[in-house]
Amino acid sequence: MFVKHLTLIDFRNHKNTEIEFQPGVNLLVGPNGHGKTNVIEAIEYVSTLNSHRVASYQPLIHKAANSAIIRAKVSHETRDVLVDLELHRDNQNQVRINQPPIPRLRDLLGTLNSVVFAPEDIDIVKRDPSNRRKFIDQLLIQFSPRLSGVISDYERVLKQRNTLLKTARSTGAKGSSLSTLDAWDESLVKFGSEIVVERLLLLDRIKPYLSDAYQAIAVTNNEPNILMKSSLLGSVVVDDFEEAELEYLELTDVDRIAELYRGKLAIVRSKEMERGITLIGPHRDDLVLLLGDLPAKGYASHGESWSYALALRLASARLLRDESKTGDPIVILDDVFAELDAGRRDRLASLVADNEQVIITAAVSEDVPTSLKATVFEVSEGSVTRV
Ligand SMILES: Nc1ncnc2c1ncn2[C@@H]1O[C@H](COP(=O)(O)OP(=O)(O)OP(=O)(O)O)[C@@H](O)[C@H]1O
Ligand SMILES: [Mg+2]
Repeated sequence: MFVKHLTLIDFRNHKNTEIEFQPGVNLLVGPNGHGKTNVIEAIEYVSTLNSHRVASYQPLIHKAANSAIIRAKVSHETRDVLVDLELHRDNQNQVRINQPPIPRLRDLLGTLNSVVFAPEDIDIVKRDPSNRRKFIDQLLIQFSPRLSGVISDYERVLKQRNTLLKTARSTGAKGSSLSTLDAWDESLVKFGSEIVVERLLLLDRIKPYLSDAYQAIAVTNNEPNILMKSSLLGSVVVDDFEEAELEYLELTDVDRIAELYRGKLAIVRSKEMERGITLIGPHRDDLVLLLGDLPAKGYASHGESWSYALALRLASARLLRDESKTGDPIVILDDVFAELDAGRRDRLASLVADNEQVIITAAVSEDVPTSLKATVFEVSEGSVTRV
């Protein structure tokens, strides 16, 4: 698939921008702060209903406006799909696909698949577990948008269960609240186990691609590998999960995982009542990104971490391309080439060149290898013109 046309109205600093993208490589060039990443963010938002820069959509709306519009014409193999997404400061956001409004925003997921690499992605390697959970869950949803429902069901149950635990803490556990807790536990285990299994299966599939991508960019003998550190394992509750002794979950049988889950819930029940919070489950798990024998977090150099993050995205793109039903994802590289030496630039270029569509940003076009033969757009003060 590829984006044919993008319209931005009052999106970030784009008052009214029209871009006629081409299949193949598209390059957005312009000085710092003129609106290149904003364009990418708009495509990312249509793709995932998420931005890598902010947690809520409010900052996406132009500071002097009350709503923003992103309109994207997406070309699939046999048809074009027109997505019209309206973001409102004070109202419900709305999305139309080929005109009729769709009731739930999340039904948009799967219409436009993209993989974005942005400088902030180094956080996946270096920072707290929530960055890694977000990485894997977003990729899961791209493979099967249905899982977005499972993840929000899990989050809903988690919230309600936490409320119940807090009430039980303040009023003392009584028979009725305990049986309600048991009922919530079953839903927690049902949705939670599915998330855990899906994450593990996806990790297995992405590993070979990760290895290839990392070798191509970094050229080392250090093999990357990913393991899942799971809160469902072990017999004690750990306070600081990050520092806790490593226990990796590898089995992918959903019934056995559910069994482990129930067992561990029983172990932590009294601690959970004491604290008023759910202590185990996929919201507490972490991916351990290994480089050779050591976790990249805490050991890898800045350059290694950066290459690792890029490799995670490139591997995602390859995997989606080979296995997803929706065809090639759009590969988006924000400010990547400036970080690389000439050899690595060329290798990265050849890794992404044959994708159906690639969108690249750079402050200066000289940083981008000419072998990419890009269609070039100039971004200046929130407007975009084809060069
Ligand atoms: N809601 C908003 N309303 C108006 N302007 C905004 C809004 N959000 C961001 N901006 C402006 O957009 C500009 C940043 O745009 P963007 O991040 O796309 O720059 P860029 O071209 O990618 O720059 P760099 O090369 O430094 O990465 C900033 O000047 C910022 O003030
Ligand atoms: Mg930028």
